[in-house]
Amino acid sequence: MKKTVLVGVTGCVAIYKACEIVRGLQKAGLRAKVVMTEHATEFVNPALFRALTREPVAVGLFDDAPGDPIHHISLSKEADLFVIAPCTANVIGKIANGIADDLLTTTAMATTAPLVIAPAMNVNMYESAANQENMATLKRRGVRFIDSESGYLACGDVGKGRLADPDVIVSEIVEMIGVKRDLEGKRVLVTTGPTIEPIDPVRFISNPSSGKTGFALAEAARERGAEVCLVAGPVALDDLPDVETVRVKTALEMLDAVSRRFDGSDIAVFSAAVSDFRPKDPSASKLKKDACDSRLSSIELVENPDILATMGARKHAGQLVVGFAAETEDVVENARKKLVKKNADAIVGNLVGDGKGFGTDDNEAVIVTHDDVVRIPLMSKRELADAILDWARSNQA
Ligand code: C5P
Repeated sequence: MKKTVLVGVTGCVAIYKACEIVRGLQKAGLRAKVVMTEHATEFVNPALFRALTREPVAVGLFDDAPGDPIHHISLSKEADLFVIAPCTANVIGKIANGIADDLLTTTAMATTAPLVIAPAMNVNMYESAANQENMATLKRRGVRFIDSESGYLACGDVGKGRLADPDVIVSEIVEMIGVKRDLEGKRVLVTTGPTIEPIDPVRFISNPSSGKTGFALAEAARERGAEVCLVAGPVALDDLPDVETVRVKTALEMLDAVSRRFDGSDIAVFSAAVSDFRPKDPSASKLKKDACDSRLSSIELVENPDILATMGARKHAGQLVVGFAAETEDVVENARKKLVKKNADAIVGNLVGDGKGFGTDDNEAVIVTHDDVVRIPLMSKRELADAILDWARSNQA
C-alpha cells in the first residue's frame, strides 16, 4: 500500500512549483492528494492537480465530497504526512493561531499526521514579526519547516521568502516518511509477459502470463530510485511513468531488446514467460482449415533461444541475474537446477496452476540462491517485487 502525502496548496505565485512537488512524490512511490485554498484556485484551476494526481481535489469546507460527509476529518486521517507547499504567511498565521476557517486549515488542525510547511512569500512578510513569531510557535509545536531560500522574488524584491527547491522538498518528505531509495544510481532491466510465436497472421502459440509480476518489479525498482527498462511481451498493462518500456512480441524480439540493454544493467530480472518453441515456418497468409493444410494439423517447432541462459553466460562481475521458475511441483528442486543451468544468482520459484501464479494479484514464492532458500509467504506481487529487490540489494557489492 502506497503511503499518502496530502499536499496543501495555498495562493501564491510559487504555486506552479507544487506541480513538480506532486510529480516528485509520485515518482518516489507516494500517493499525492491535493487540498487547495480558495485563493490558490485563483492562480491554478483544481483540474490541473486532479489530472496530475488522478484524485479528487478538495477545496471548499462545504463542498460535496461523494460518500464523505465530513471531508476534513477523512482527509486528515488518510494522510501519512501533510505538507503545505507553498504556504503563505496568511495560512501560517491561521494555523499558528488555531484558526480553521477553510478546508485546508481545518484539515491541518484535525490531522495527527506530521505537518510540514514550506513557506513562500515576500521578504518583508517573511521577516515580519508576526510571521517570525507564528513560525516559531509552530516549530515549538513540532511542525517541520522546509525553509525558504534567499533570492529573486516574484515581486521583484531580493531576499528570503522563495519556496525551497521542489527536489529538496520531495527528498525531505521521502526521508521523513521512510520510503527506501536504496537503488539510486542502479540500472535495472526486467523482462515480463508472455511471448507470442506466430503460426500464421491470425494464429499464434503463447501462454496466459499477465505481466503483472514484471510490471510490479519495474515499478518497485523505479520507486526505489533505479533507472528501469522493462521489456514486455504482449500484455494489457499501460506503460509505467518514468520506466523505459520496450514492447515486443516474439522471443527473438525479446532477446534482441534485452541483448542491447543487458551489459549496462546492474540487476536483471527475467520474469517473462518466454515460449520455449516457435513454429519453424510461419505462414505469411492465413492457413485454411478446410483445405486440411498439414501445416495447421501438425506444426513443426524449433526451440527458442533461452534469454536468461544467454545473458547468464554473458554476465559480468557485480551484475546480478535473477530468473523465475513457474512450476507445478518440486519448486525448490527445479529452481536449483535452473540456477546452475542458466548461471543465475537467484531463481524465484513459484507454484502455478490451480488458480495460482498466472494473472493473479498475489503470489507465494521461494528465492533459491547458491547457498540459501528464502521462503516468501503469500503476498501481493508488489510486495514480492520489493522482497526480490531487498534480496538483490543486500547481495550486490
Ligand atoms: O526453463 P524455464 O523456461 O522454466 O525457465 C524460466 C526462466 O527462464 C524465467 O526466468 C524465464 O524468463 C527465463 N526464460 C528465458 N528464455 C526462454 C525461456 C525461459 O529467458 N526461452
